[in-house]
Amino acid sequence: MRTQRLLVVALALGACVLPACRTTPQDGAARGYSALFDKQAVAADHPTASEAGAAILARGGNAVDAAVATSFTLSVVRPYSCGIGGGGFMVVHIAGGTDRPAVNVAYNYRETAPSGITPDFFEKYDDDRHSRYGGTAIAVPGTVAGLLRAHAQHGRLSREAVLAPAIAAARAGFVADDHYADASKRLTAKFKANPGWKTDHAFVWERLLRKGRVQAGDRIRLPEQAEALELIAHQGADAFYKGPIADAIVKAVGDAGGVMTHDDLEAFHVDQSQPLRAQIAGYEFLGMPPPSSGGVTMFETLRILQALGIDPRTRDTSLERLHMLVESMKHAFADRAMWFGDPAFVNVPVEGLLSVENVRRLAAQVRRDRTQPLDRYGTHSPPPESGGTSHVSVVDKWGNAVACTETINLEFGSLVGVPEFGFVLNDEMDDFLTRPGEPNAFGLEQSDRNLPEASKRPLSSMSPTIVLDHRGVFAVAGASGGPRIISGTTQALLRVIQGDGAGEAVAARRVHHQWAPDLLYHEPGAFSPERADAIEAFGHVLRERDAVGNVQLIRRARVGGGWEAASDPRKGGRPAGR
Ligand code: GLY
Repeated sequence: MRTQRLLVVALALGACVLPACRTTPQDGAARGYSALFDKQAVAADHPTASEAGAAILARGGNAVDAAVATSFTLSVVRPYSCGIGGGGFMVVHIAGGTDRPAVNVAYNYRETAPSGITPDFFEKYDDDRHSRYGGTAIAVPGTVAGLLRAHAQHGRLSREAVLAPAIAAARAGFVADDHYADASKRLTAKFKANPGWKTDHAFVWERLLRKGRVQAGDRIRLPEQAEALELIAHQGADAFYKGPIADAIVKAVGDAGGVMTHDDLEAFHVDQSQPLRAQIAGYEFLGMPPPSSGGVTMFETLRILQALGIDPRTRDTSLERLHMLVESMKHAFADRAMWFGDPAFVNVPVEGLLSVENVRRLAAQVRRDRTQPLDRYGTHSPPPESGGTSHVSVVDKWGNAVACTETINLEFGSLVGVPEFGFVLNDEMDDFLTRPGEPNAFGLEQSDRNLPEASKRPLSSMSPTIVLDHRGVFAVAGASGGPRIISGTTQALLRVIQGDGAGEAVAARRVHHQWAPDLLYHEPGAFSPERADAIEAFGHVLRERDAVGNVQLIRRARVGGGWEAASDPRKGGRPAGR
């Protein structure tokens, strides 16, 4: 790690992303959540996971090796956020050279609905529990297949080498931090309100929550997950999708009332494609295409801002600028609700939504003095055609980069554990439109394009993003936090293209608007009372909430060579590298 003086000065001078913020950003370098590295860096939302990736880089691994090692380690140390029971997306940039062009790939290993699922599957239930907890909530996990595909195509080190840090973490155990303790406390309250859960979800209750007594500082050991990871290291993805782990998953899902079969697991496939690309403010953004809504919603927000005459590179702390950002988000999130689903099943009009005509038309509908009713947002007629999470950002010394976001959906996923192998299964079925007319757990309204169907992937907000300029990788970012992933990543990237350091970009207070409900969420301390009054005068209804995403970000150092890396202080991560 290089001297941090530059970063400390920059942070001390910094302002919040939101004007008139009452607090200044914390000193990220002094608190450990941001740092400057000469050659290569990993920013994950847990220090042990960042260190796992940095150790792989130090052994000669590249950014993909490091991202895979970090992700498998997160499966152990953030078992309530992501893991081998979940799925995700990865955007990879392999730098070109004199003899070869750059290669960009988007890996889609989002979970798929089991074959027993039909569009009306959840309508027979009179509450939302069945898509959130228990066997029916679980979609076929994709993380193992996705990570191993990316590793097989780009990795330099062996599969055994990149899985070794995760296996060691599972054997040695990890120390629960404040974020783990807080997540456990929230879930313990739900267990107490649902006494049957203690036997139905015994693995989560006894091992991860320690019967409601888990505290920061406790060591949690998952030796069973070490066994699963060892099988995967030696036998590859087949160990998970065909072997003894598959048997244990099918049993766990069946015992919990779900419908997943061995055939569903064997049929799981990774899709790979070009990343979504957009030229914005002189940068080339590489994002995740559908079934992620992240790339399109972020790029549409930024393009509407530009169509409003705003240069995203300029810092402007006025109320009008904040209002324009929120109005752009409202249009983009309205389109998310109306147009998105799995492109393998429905047509998602990506090009039309991002087209110059469309963003200009939406920008022309923005009123500069006040916000408007919800039905005035989004692309109502078909646009012209040509539609619990964790994030890792990595750069290596060759100029390669990886942005990887993975999830088991809500904290602790479906609550269904696979006790023989020490991991938790996702509840990704809730990211479908499960009961028409009802929003999902994130309050997101969605169209019937996102109804569940066998082998369909649910819509996601995960937004792994790489930003390039004429020198190569400029920034790598992404977040956890449901739909707040999109707004959190957008605001952090806006800050770095406006010249902020990585530490202040992730620490600054943020806002979120997802079109419906018609509320402008803001983090505590984001506004003075006077400023809040002024924002309300635009017609916005303010609602305070906790984190607007947890962003992990790396940017090219502002001075000299190297990389500034930051793990969001909201989740307690710390970057690593050298
Ligand atoms: N499970 C949250 C998301 O993918 O958006």
